[in-house]
Amino acid sequence: MTCSAADIERALIRRTRLRVSALVAVVITVLVLAVGAVGYQVMVHTQDNQIASELRSSAENGAPATPPGCTWLVALDDGVVHPGIVPAPRGFPLRADLDAVQATGVAVDRTVAANGTEYRVRTQPGAGGRTVQAIFDARYQLADRHHLLLAVLIAELGGLLAAALTGLLVGRHAVAPLAEALDKQRRFVTDASHELRTPITQAYTRLQLLVRRAAAADLPAEHRDGLDRLATSIRGLGEVVEDLLLSARLAADPTPRRDMLVDLAELASAAVARECDRADEKRITLSLERPPGPLTVLGVETALRRAVGELLANAVRHTPEGGRIELRLARSVPPGEIELTVADTGDGFDPVEADRLFERFHRGPSASERRFGLGLALLREVVTSHNGTIEAVGHPGRGASFTLRLPEVASVAHGR
Ligand SMILES: Nc1ncnc2c1ncn2[C@@H]1O[C@H](COP(=O)(O)OP(=O)(O)OP(=O)(O)O)[C@@H](O)[C@H]1O
Ligand SMILES: [Mg+2]
Repeated sequence: MTCSAADIERALIRRTRLRVSALVAVVITVLVLAVGAVGYQVMVHTQDNQIASELRSSAENGAPATPPGCTWLVALDDGVVHPGIVPAPRGFPLRADLDAVQATGVAVDRTVAANGTEYRVRTQPGAGGRTVQAIFDARYQLADRHHLLLAVLIAELGGLLAAALTGLLVGRHAVAPLAEALDKQRRFVTDASHELRTPITQAYTRLQLLVRRAAAADLPAEHRDGLDRLATSIRGLGEVVEDLLLSARLAADPTPRRDMLVDLAELASAAVARECDRADEKRITLSLERPPGPLTVLGVETALRRAVGELLANAVRHTPEGGRIELRLARSVPPGEIELTVADTGDGFDPVEADRLFERFHRGPSASERRFGLGLALLREVVTSHNGTIEAVGHPGRGASFTLRLPEVASVAHGR
């Protein structure tokens, strides 16, 4: 489907809003995760310390018959294991640890996963040459950790939802002024153009009347020339205002209309014909290559004419005597777009400059003082307002080529 400049603006605003929302959501998510992670670490650390000190004190002072809750005590005395009144869980005591500590006298701490829970086991030398093993079942501590993780997960999901809503609200408020400014700017251009159109048309009509009277009266030739030039300038001014209005209409409603269908092939032929004299002066070969038949796009003819004219004028300016300029027209592959390329064998430019050439007031190093660096910037505005693209390729001393792509009307009509 073809989208108008207004659609592009709306998409830009939507993207900005989503970006703000995503940013707020990420910040809140990271904050909740950070708080959860710190809380979890503190809990694990505190529990581990608590279990370790409990095990140590049970092994030192506890009696096998009356161990504290969740704890079992076992003693190894003269090679015989004394299990205590409460039997140790399945898989305990750890006989190998008892024997090792008995032999070395060095305490051993171990974590054992068994019976669906986790046991912390400390084996250390006890009083009277005995070796004591304290076994602690950490199931309640593990359950507390799981509860904390669940709480963090729930808080995270809640936070995420709140973040998305907050982000949407914040995004809407942050982006609203941008949308408003774009809308106001568009309206101003349309209204001002509309208001200017009538006085300009009146001035042009009066001037034409004057030109006719001047021809009838015996006015000196220089005055007649002056009047002619003034009429041409005013006609140009009228065309610019007309362009602005047509572009605004195109932006608001990109449906093809007969009065906005432009044959790029015809327009390109006319542009080449206009540049012929200047090219001849510099002995530049100017050629046009195009497929047969019309290549129709939807747009403002005068604006597109100026865009193609700007590319040709730049090419003539940057191509030395005896050079070559080719204007090529073709349908894109896959079809859907018309490609218009102006390639020359002139000065070229540094490839890193390719994007900067389209910036306002950007001029190349060899540009004369009379150049403003505005031509390509305005051209890009025309092209994007016609839902097209422009690309520049060049190398110093090896020429430049500018390719303009515009949606072909047949595909616009078919909802491309
Ligand atoms: N065909 C080309 N070959 C080499 N460089 C080019 C060509 N066309 C444009 N450029 C470079 O791009 C710069 C910008 O071009 P642009 O048309 O925007 O401005 P300009 O021609 O310098 O001035 P203006 O168009 O405002 O009179 C030029 O100064 C030139 O350096
Ligand atoms: Mg220019």
